[in-house]
Amino acid sequence: MVAPGMRRYKVRTEAQASLVGPEGSSPLDLPAIFGRRAPIRLEIGCGHGEFISQMAAAHPDEDFVGVEYDRLRITKGAHKCLGLGATNASFYGGMAEDFVRDRMPTASARRIYILFPDPWPKPDHRRRRLMTRAFLADLSRVAAPGCRFIFGSDTHNYTMQVLNNLTTLPGLWRNLYPPSGYRINIPTRFPTVFERYKKEEGDTIAYLMLERTDVPAPVLPAPHRPPRGSKTQQGIPGCHSGKTEST
Ligand SMILES: C[S@@+](CC[C@H](N)C(=O)[O-])C[C@H]1O[C@@H](n2cnc3c(N)ncnc32)[C@H](O)[C@@H]1O
Repeated sequence: MVAPGMRRYKVRTEAQASLVGPEGSSPLDLPAIFGRRAPIRLEIGCGHGEFISQMAAAHPDEDFVGVEYDRLRITKGAHKCLGLGATNASFYGGMAEDFVRDRMPTASARRIYILFPDPWPKPDHRRRRLMTRAFLADLSRVAAPGCRFIFGSDTHNYTMQVLNNLTTLPGLWRNLYPPSGYRINIPTRFPTVFERYKKEEGDTIAYLMLERTDVPAPVLPAPHRPPRGSKTQQGIPGCHSGKTEST
């Protein structure tokens, strides 16, 4: 069911559509898409576009790529960018795993943001989590040397899982939050919808920030993940944050 506030995004205006790239599996020609060669920032699971639109407006000399499964949220993200006068963003619908593997050029991103990915807090559902070792290897290919990877989640065992998976890809990333490897409740310039909501609820948020080295990334086989919308997903909304768990 579509929430009443989202109905207006069912149909894309021409201007909104101009910020949405075609679906498919062919690699993106980023200079052709943006009409220039500028640093690229990638947001995965950009949701309602709160963060990417404000970032794009704040950094007119850089270009922003957003990938998001939910079509209406893509349109809303484009709408927000236009509202802020930012045309340096391009949104793509679909699964981030496929998008990163097939469409993002090697060493193309100088920042990668994954903020409040679906946490799948129940043990039985954790295999649905996005941040597998294979996905991190694909992200490592897309990250240019010096690229920063920023991750935030209120599901602490997910944050620890990401850190653990990264240690199995030795030498690819340098942790910028020593000695623990993460930081809790740091102030953020443009909070996402989920970030605001979770902070208002009093939850603790753990953030990661890592910097890509120049060690080449391995290519790992993708793990089997049940397709989106399959039986084990029923009853679990696509953009829920679930029960907060700590480790
Ligand atoms: C919990 S919401 C967080 C949205 C936003 N980042 C925020 O912090 O407000 C997670 C978002 O990721 C999207 N998403 C989840 N899995 C995805 C996937 N595999 N590929 C692309 N988008 C995905 C969902 O549709 C949803 O919009």
